[in-house]
Amino acid sequence: MRFLPANRVAELSPDEQAIYRQLDPARLPQHVAIIMDGNGRWAGKRSLKRFLGHQQGAESVQYVVETASRINLPWLTLYAFSLENNLRRPKTEVNFLMRLLRSYLINNVQRMNDNNVRITYIGRTHELPAEVQEKMHWAAEATAHNNGTVLTLALNYGARSELVDAVQALAREAACKNFSLEHIGEEDLRRHLYTAHMPDPDLVVRTSGEFRVSNFLLWQMAYSEIYVTERLWPDFRGIHLLEAIADYQRRERRYGGLNKLQESDEAPVPDSFLVPR
Ligand code: FPP
Repeated sequence: MRFLPANRVAELSPDEQAIYRQLDPARLPQHVAIIMDGNGRWAGKRSLKRFLGHQQGAESVQYVVETASRINLPWLTLYAFSLENNLRRPKTEVNFLMRLLRSYLINNVQRMNDNNVRITYIGRTHELPAEVQEKMHWAAEATAHNNGTVLTLALNYGARSELVDAVQALAREAACKNFSLEHIGEEDLRRHLYTAHMPDPDLVVRTSGEFRVSNFLLWQMAYSEIYVTERLWPDFRGIHLLEAIADYQRRERRYGGLNKLQESDEAPVPDSFLVPR
């Protein structure tokens, strides 16, 4: 668990504070990951071009990041651009998203620093345009000293390709260190994921009402709680992040085990129960 500086709850809006007061600060998630969906529908509902939905979506990103930093959320990961987006969206939309990302970084690094946010990335980012990579690098360097929320943007990211990359890296390591493949365990693969340095997400939020995981953090979300909201990403704000966390705190996480009450029910089971009735 990361040690973070004192939180800035006093900077939340009155509405956010009302939700925050219902939360148990000792049980805040360590890591929230968000599948930001619905930009196109948001624009369509207003008879606007899709790119305006993405532009509005970039505004939501900053609002949510700032609320996360005020409550001292250690890790926030946003699915900003998938490998599939890169391959299957029209070139004009991909180019717009790249320009938007660049201008988001240029315009928000100061606010990230004001909010003690450090930005990092996961995905096959080396395949992104050079001028985007250059700004990504610049923003990461410019915020590297911050010790509050770590904002991770998943860019040109796909979970299956992450697993392929991890397996290749592990195979190289095995060849180099001469260890046998039979001894490979979960931890060995985990060490080679893009997310090796962070905890798995406790909570995965998806906006726009779709019940899909869309090739996002497939390994890491094995035991995540999933929260789906009908709200479209451009309408999502910090208060909705707090609502998702309140919902998360009402869940019981069992990781495939039992709860305390069930554990105490240890009476032996007679063989007659094996026969279906
Ligand atoms: C889904 O909307 C969202 C995306 C394809 C990418 C998310 C991008 C942003 C939130 C804006 C830029 C982000 C940053 C970090 C600057 P969609 O187009 O799939 O929506 P639809 O399903 O309604 O068509």
